[in-house]
Order: sequence, then C-alpha cells, then structure tokens
Amino acid sequence: MANQDVTSMPRIFHRTKHGHIYLGDSLDVLRTTEDNSIDLIMTSPPFGLVRKKEYGNAEAPAYLDWFKPFAEQFHRVLKTSGSLVIDIGGAWNPGTPTRSLYHYKLLIMLCEEFGFHLAQDFFWWNPSRLPTPAEWVTVRRIRVKDAINTVWWLSKTPWPKASNRRVLQPYSPSMMELLEKGYKAKKRPSGHDISDKFSVDNGAAIPPNLIAIPNTESNSAYLRYCQEHGIKAHPARYPSDLPEYFIRLLTNEGDTVFDPFGGSCMTGEVAERLNRRWTCCDLVEEYLVGALGRFVGSAQVERPKPESDSSYYRVPRPGLLWNGREEPLDEDGGRVRKVKPKNKGSGAAVLPKSNPSVRSISVDDKNSTIESFVLMPVASEESER
Ligand SMILES: C[S@@+](CC[C@H](N)C(=O)[O-])C[C@H]1O[C@@H](n2cnc3c(N)ncnc32)[C@H](O)[C@@H]1O
Repeated sequence: MANQDVTSMPRIFHRTKHGHIYLGDSLDVLRTTEDNSIDLIMTSPPFGLVRKKEYGNAEAPAYLDWFKPFAEQFHRVLKTSGSLVIDIGGAWNPGTPTRSLYHYKLLIMLCEEFGFHLAQDFFWWNPSRLPTPAEWVTVRRIRVKDAINTVWWLSKTPWPKASNRRVLQPYSPSMMELLEKGYKAKKRPSGHDISDKFSVDNGAAIPPNLIAIPNTESNSAYLRYCQEHGIKAHPARYPSDLPEYFIRLLTNEGDTVFDPFGGSCMTGEVAERLNRRWTCCDLVEEYLVGALGRFVGSAQVERPKPESDSSYYRVPRPGLLWNGREEPLDEDGGRVRKVKPKNKGSGAAVLPKSNPSVRSISVDDKNSTIESFVLMPVASEESER
C-alpha cells in the first residue's frame, strides 16, 4: 500500500470522552486487541480501484490477499453478537467498459474462508456521484453512471444483535395518504395477500436495504477546521448518516465500535455523539490532524435539515425521459471511439413538450410502489467516495 506515513508501532494520537484515535497500521492495533471484545466494526477500506487514490489502493487481483490478515483479526476480535459492516465501491477493469468482481470475491472470501455470515447486503446510493469513468459514460455513452456502493453487513453468527426499530423512517407522502384514506385488503398481482394490517399506522416505516444519501458535505465544522488550519480534507469520506445508520441498528449505548480504516474519523465522530465507545485508526498523520476538527470545541456533525419532502428520494422509472427517438446502436459496442460531430448537441434525451419540467413528472402506476423520479441535490464539494 502506498503513502504509509508510519513504520513504527501505532501510538495513541488523540483521546475523547468515549474514544481514541491511533496513528499507525490497524493490523498492529487489532493484534493487540482482545478476543471477542468489539460489538461493531464499521469501516470503509481502501477500494481496489483501477485509478489509484492518493492514499493507496491494492490492485483488484491483489486486493483479497491484502485483506486476508484483516479478515482474520476482524473475526477474532468481534463478539459473537457482533457485526462487521464494510462499505465498498466497485471498480472498472482497466481498458474495457466492464466491471471488476473484486468486491463480490471479497464477500465470498469473507464468508467461505473466514466463516462470516452475510446478515444482509445493502446498497448505498449516492445521487450526487459524478458520471465516471468519463470515457465509457460521457464520451462513448455506452455505460450509465455508477452511483452505488455495496455495503456488506456480516456477522460472526447468524444471529447478530440488531433491531430495525432503531432505523425507522417517516412514512412517505403516499403511505400517509393510504393510512388516511384506508386500504382495501386484496391480493396483489404478485400473489401477495395484503391484509388490512397494512393500513395500521405503526408510526414509521421499515426502511429498505437501499440507502439514499448524497455525499455533499460542503460546510461542516470538519471542513471549516481543515480550511482554517491549511489541512487538505480527506478525499474519500463517507457521510455521517452511513455509520449512524449501522451504529444505531447494531449497537447499544456503551458498546464498542472500531474503524480500522478511519480516515477523517467520521465513524468516531458519530460514535462519540451516540455515546458508544470507539477506536479509529489511520496510517496517514495528515488525515488525523484534520480529524481533530471533529472533536475540538463544540464541533458536531452538521446534518442537513430536512425540508418538507426532501427527505425522500424517489426512484426514477427506467425510460422515463425517453424521447421517442431510438438512436441506432453501434454493432461494435462502442469499441471505436467516434469523433463527435460539431453542433449536434449532447445526445441527451429531450423531454417531451408536455413534460416541461422534470420536477413535475409523476408516475401513477397502481401496481408499483415506485413513485416518480429523483430531484437530485448537486454537490458543491464532491467527495470521491
Ligand atoms: C476510504 S478511506 C476511509 C475514510 C473514512 N471512512 C472517512 O469517512 O473519513 C480509507 C482509509 O484507510 C487508511 N488505511 C489504509 N490502510 C490502512 C492500515 N493498514 N491501517 C490504518 N489505516 C489504513 C487510508 O489511509 C485511508 O485514509
């Protein structure tokens, strides 16, 4: 791995009321951690990306070998009721518009070689992701934007402690309407019998395993601290809502959370706020110097305030913006790069005149739970995550 600042044994870099940060190799920290002592490992390891990030990423084929000693330690230090949550993005194979299987291989390795159980697979949709790689997505137009990370929730036994009551979300406007007007019990076309229990107001909805969070932090205490102190912010931070979701789902107050690839210590900041004991670790001192901005003074995670309907992302139905005109497909699959003809426009779908604003499109399909489409916030500072 590139850019390791540290060659000596890890040292405690900073302590807070509930946690501490180590500067050093987390493998060394793990090796001195007691068996069965951690409730949750919540982390986002360096990805096996084709384009190397500044903090170093193993190439996809070497990734599994790099991960193995961590997997062994993770399994040893977790309590039997504990969970390992790994946020990991996909990668493109070099030179072709095809996807690497490395993160699926990682999942299979963790389960088949190290005895983890896949409690559930989640998908974190980041609507503000940039359309990359540009060559396949915006230049040749033969692939679509990759906007999800997989989040593997793994456990040491099939019965990790968890409660979805901790992560309920407000009912959507359509569900509120249904609760108000009532629901007639009937069989769905899928064959599912929907009883009248469906219209009982339980106060909130059980969320799906698709987590929609834009990664658009632009004015947090952390960023301000980095700016004021001339520190470069960590380039691949996850949003606070992601660790918060899993910390709430899987741990109680006072439990222990560990992030071996701590980066800017977002996991630590959330764990501190939620009164969990925690440890974060990173190899790169500059990242930890910046992370201090999360713990000094009255720094707190600044969560975007939900405005009316903005806490809902509505998933677009495929083809919604289709303009009725099919451009012929290239038989070579885009292998030969075309020279763009001048003054021909971008080739983007044109909205029919009857749909003057994408904001107002609404799809009313009684058999579908998918409502309409997304109004995506635009990132002012896009983290590379
Ligand atoms: C994807 S980033 C994590 C970002 C973090 N979730 C956040 O929100 O700031 C991965 C981090 O792992 C660190 N790292 C890589 N190998 C490590 C190791 N052996 N021990 C400790 N940290 C490591 C890198 O320096 C990098 O900061």
